[in-house]
Amino acid sequence: MSKTKIAIFASGTGSNAKAIIEHSFQANYEVDLIISNKKNAGVLNFSEEFDIDAMVIDKETFYEDDILIHFLQQRDIKYLILAGFLWQIPSYLIQAFPERILNIHPALLPKYGGKGMYGSNVHQAVFDAKEKESGLTIHLVNEEYDKGEILFQTKIEVLATDTPKNIASKILKLEHKHYPQIIEKYIAENSGVLL
Ligand code: GAR
Repeated sequence: MSKTKIAIFASGTGSNAKAIIEHSFQANYEVDLIISNKKNAGVLNFSEEFDIDAMVIDKETFYEDDILIHFLQQRDIKYLILAGFLWQIPSYLIQAFPERILNIHPALLPKYGGKGMYGSNVHQAVFDAKEKESGLTIHLVNEEYDKGEILFQTKIEVLATDTPKNIASKILKLEHKHYPQIIEKYIAENSGVLL
């Protein structure tokens, strides 16, 4: 059976992208394209390493054009996977891929979500609020930032000795474990294919 094509959108290091790519070799999906808004993003190295096409997109094309939709559809890409992508997804893209855009957030939404809440800002806020727990959320993307349907959450305990940095690394490890599996499961459930 042919694999479902996905595109990964990432702005930074791309460690989640790497985990998703590595899992793809034994999964029901194939990473067809990596899209970044930053030309020096670490994630682009994985394009070379795994021989996957990559593209750097500028703000104008992303927000004012629907060229991107045609491009994605031409490649038969079915799901858009956000993995540390920092631009808000425009409505035209959400409408073209309804319930087909997934995001990972490094906290227990609805807490610590919304604009400006990404990466280390999230962990610093959790630390400052002296939360006893944090975690990760995988959710569908809709037009409200970080408010789409939650597909999966898991928690970690935040210890009195934890710093924002090690909260981040505990959560990132869990992201790598769960995100590829949730993507696979979601695609399977939505394509009528059993795992
Ligand atoms: C991840 O922790 C991801 O959850 C977070 O950015 C990091 C990207 O790391 N995403 C957000 O904060 C979205 N609001 P990576 O580039 O190593 O995958």
